[in-house]
This record gives sequence, C-alpha cells and structure tokens, in this order.
Amino acid sequence: MDAIDRLSARPPLYATTAHNFWTDPYVSGHVLDAHLDPHIDDASRKPAQISGTVESIIAEATTLGILDRESPRLLDLGCGPGLYAEQFAMRGFAVTGIDQADRSIDYARDQARRQGVAIDYRVDDMLSAPFDGPYDVITLIYGEFGTVSESERAELLRRVRSALAPGGLFVFDVFTDRYVKRMRGGPDWYVSNGKGFWSGTPHLVLERVHHYRDASASVNRYIVIDRDGSYREFNVWWRHYTAPEIDAVITTSGFRLHARYANLWGDPPQPNDEWIGVFATRE
Ligand SMILES: C[S@@+](CC[C@H](N)C(=O)[O-])C[C@H]1O[C@@H](n2cnc3c(N)ncnc32)[C@H](O)[C@@H]1O
Repeated sequence: MDAIDRLSARPPLYATTAHNFWTDPYVSGHVLDAHLDPHIDDASRKPAQISGTVESIIAEATTLGILDRESPRLLDLGCGPGLYAEQFAMRGFAVTGIDQADRSIDYARDQARRQGVAIDYRVDDMLSAPFDGPYDVITLIYGEFGTVSESERAELLRRVRSALAPGGLFVFDVFTDRYVKRMRGGPDWYVSNGKGFWSGTPHLVLERVHHYRDASASVNRYIVIDRDGSYREFNVWWRHYTAPEIDAVITTSGFRLHARYANLWGDPPQPNDEWIGVFATRE
C-alpha cells in the first residue's frame, strides 16, 4: 500500500529517485537494446535522423570555420552507446563521450575498437564530471537538456560555456509542449509475468504522469513492485520549452543563438513542432 500512496502523491519538482532509468542494472540492458534498434526511436533516434544530425552539425561547424581548426575536438554529453560519437570521429573530430550508463559506454568502447577509431569514452555524470576542454563543439542530443532542474541547467550551461573554445558550438535539442501532450497521461498499471522492460521476474507496474504547468514540466512516475512486495521507483522528468524561452536561456548564459530549427537535422520550424534543435556559439 505504501507504493500506492507514493504513486498518488505528487513529488516535489525535479525530485529524484534512488533508482535511475538509465543506470539501473536490469533496466539499462533493455535501454541499450532500445538504443540499438534501428526501427524505434525510444532511446536513440533512427539511423537516418542520426546521420542527418551529424551532417547538419558538420555543415554548421564548417560555416563557423571550426573544421578549419587543427584537430577539432568534440565532446558528446549523454553520448549513450556512441552512435553519434563514432560518426564524428570518422569525420575527423577528436571525440570525448560522457555517459552515466556503463552498459552503453561498454558497448561504445567495444564498437570503437572494432571500427578502429580512437574515442575517449568516460562513464560519468555530466552534471559533475570535469569536462577538461577546450572543445570546438559540444553536443547534448535527444532531449537530456529538458530533464534537468533549472539550477542544474544553469550550472551545466556555465560548465559547457567554459569548456568551449571561443566561437565554439553548443548543439542540443529540447521538446515543446506538443511532445509532452502526446505522452500517455495514466494513471495506469499492468502485470508482467517476468522478462519485461522493468524486471526479469513477475512484477506489477504502476505508472502515472504529473504536470507542473507553472514550471512547464512533467514527470513520468513508475513504481515496479516485485512479488515479495519490494519496489523500485523511477521519476523521469520532462521540461518543455518554447522558442523564445530557449533563446532567452541561451542568450542570458553567455551564448549567441547561431541557428534554431525544428530538429537537429535542420528542418525549418513549423507551428506544431515537437522539438527545437538549437545551435549556439560561445560569446
Ligand atoms: C535519450 S538518451 C540519448 C543518447 C544519445 N545522445 C543518443 O541520442 O543516441 C540520453 C542519454 O543521456 C544519458 N544521461 C542522462 N543523464 C545523464 C547524466 N547526468 N550524466 C551522464 N549521462 C546522462 C543517459 O544515460 C542516456 O544514455
């Protein structure tokens, strides 16, 4: 019953849980499968969008003269299994990738070895890890910018800025309210006989979304209850932005807005976009 009470309570804004979706020893195995499945875009985008994003970042970096620099350096924050990092390395960048999920980094390291590309992969928390720049490009791809609290965001932007070389490029994407509106609202529950996404043994999943309209934020709460009554909680936060909001965040944090698109592969913005792709330079 404790789990049910906890599920119905609205957590404080950006409250974290002891268990983390990306690093949980069981769940992270399924997350890695999702990253690598080319037919779904649950954890990483599909291959065409990944390649389109790499091309578009290289095009913007070229416009800014970054590719004329000797051995341009790129830092990929929340790099996951290295689907972008590897392409950047093959295109001439010296790449560092940071991710907290050791399963994803193990996979990324293994792939880099097989492909014969040297990439400095690190298992670490991007909210506290040293970045040791300067980098010419820093990327944060597929919405992680929208999962941090406002104070974490301010600190992250400060650290990204100081790790960028003058004129360096920071590329990230955020979701709009259109994306959040598509999320299932719950409350919901289901029973799994085992080998599910959340647990390898029979379990019950309780699921609910809470919205924090004044903060433009929402949380997906999951409580996974095992047969013995023990349970794990997961909060997944979503902070959505409008284009003027993200412009203001960027320009008040020491960046200049270089370009803004409907996504990171450079489609022009439309009124009902679910994403905003941001290309900002260090002032
Ligand atoms: C949506 S996935 C995107 C992965 C990759 N950028 C891609 O698009 O293929 C988000 C990634 O960010 C990582 N992540 C989330 N918060 C993090 C943190 N505080 N420090 C390091 N990595 C983090 C997760 O482990 C996960 O691999």
